[in-house]
Amino acid sequence: MAKQTVENLGSLAGKKVLVRVDFNVPQDAQGNVTNDRRVRAAVPTIKSLLAQGASVIAMSHLGRPKGDPVKDAPFKMDKVAEALSKHLGIKVQKANDVAGEDSARLAASLKPGEVLLLENLRFHTGEQTGCDKLALQIARLGDVYVNDAFGTCHRKDASMVAVPKAMAAKPRVVGKLVAKELEILDVLLASPKKPFVALLGGGKVSDKIGFIQALLKRVDRILVGGAMSYTFLKAQGIEIGASRCEADKLDLANQLIVEGAGRIQLPVDHLVVDGLDKPETARVVTEIPAGAIGIDIGPKTRELYSSEIAKAGTVVWNGPMGKFEDEPYSHGTLAIAQAMAKAPGITVVGGGETAEAVEQFGLDHQMKHVSTGGGAFLEYVEGTPFAALAEIQDK
Ligand code: 3PG
Repeated sequence: MAKQTVENLGSLAGKKVLVRVDFNVPQDAQGNVTNDRRVRAAVPTIKSLLAQGASVIAMSHLGRPKGDPVKDAPFKMDKVAEALSKHLGIKVQKANDVAGEDSARLAASLKPGEVLLLENLRFHTGEQTGCDKLALQIARLGDVYVNDAFGTCHRKDASMVAVPKAMAAKPRVVGKLVAKELEILDVLLASPKKPFVALLGGGKVSDKIGFIQALLKRVDRILVGGAMSYTFLKAQGIEIGASRCEADKLDLANQLIVEGAGRIQLPVDHLVVDGLDKPETARVVTEIPAGAIGIDIGPKTRELYSSEIAKAGTVVWNGPMGKFEDEPYSHGTLAIAQAMAKAPGITVVGGGETAEAVEQFGLDHQMKHVSTGGGAFLEYVEGTPFAALAEIQDK
């Protein structure tokens, strides 16, 4: 998808640039940012705009606020503004509203080289309804619109669609982050180096039906791990003990296996426990006994999947292989991350939990690409058209 980028803008001397970023970062209960990867990922675009002579008005949603000012307090953007200030090396100003007096006043007095962050867009009810009035208020703040929020590109929120629509007479481009995501994912979809191997993990088959079907049109192998593998195994009539299973998705899992025509590989051994709170019962089995719970792929599966990764021209990975956040059950996910880090082929990690895992292991820099998109990554690969990108000027 060839879209105009910040590089096509030329001099921005004295211009105010509205940048939609995805600062929907993981937080603890107090609202502290626990992983600022998405903030860091937006820095190159913001720095390049500042270097072109602009001032930047950044805006994002954070979490899913419910309209209760007390409960929603952790979703205020102040801590994100601090993280952005740290990574930009300048003090970022923070507005106390989305499109009210404070943001209008601060935006009006913004000077070249300065950055303003609006309050959480979802504090305004019009953001998720795509409200045109809100969009007009936001649009008035900027001379140029930049979409650098790949992680939110599958949403039709006002800041993603109605704002660039309201700025139809002004330049509307993608930022460096979105441009890179599109470039890599488009190659992955159009002309992947073969063999093309996909690794799928995570909880539910039902979350990834469209993704699996889209992959089946392109890949040579799908290697399945994580909790979803137990649904596939059960669908094949294999005993899974008390492992997690989507009982209403067995027919669907079977249908996918038939569509896969021998290309879907399921785990050949497992790490199981007798209870999630009983790590001392962890053991490796090839057949899951009654009552046992599968919690990670086993060593033979790790070896099998790693050797497939080593031979692949392209590898795309979405979803952890086990309950990786607990060290005893992280070995499957770690082995896959290590195999990808060493792989000679093009390695792409789909965002969300998988990106977190790779980062937790310190292997993110050894991947060709770690997407910032969770749902957006899945939907883009599925081929869902994004209304947000349709509002950006083509090359
Ligand atoms: C994400 O984290 O996937 C995006 O920021 C979108 O967030 P949402 O699912 O709350 O719309």
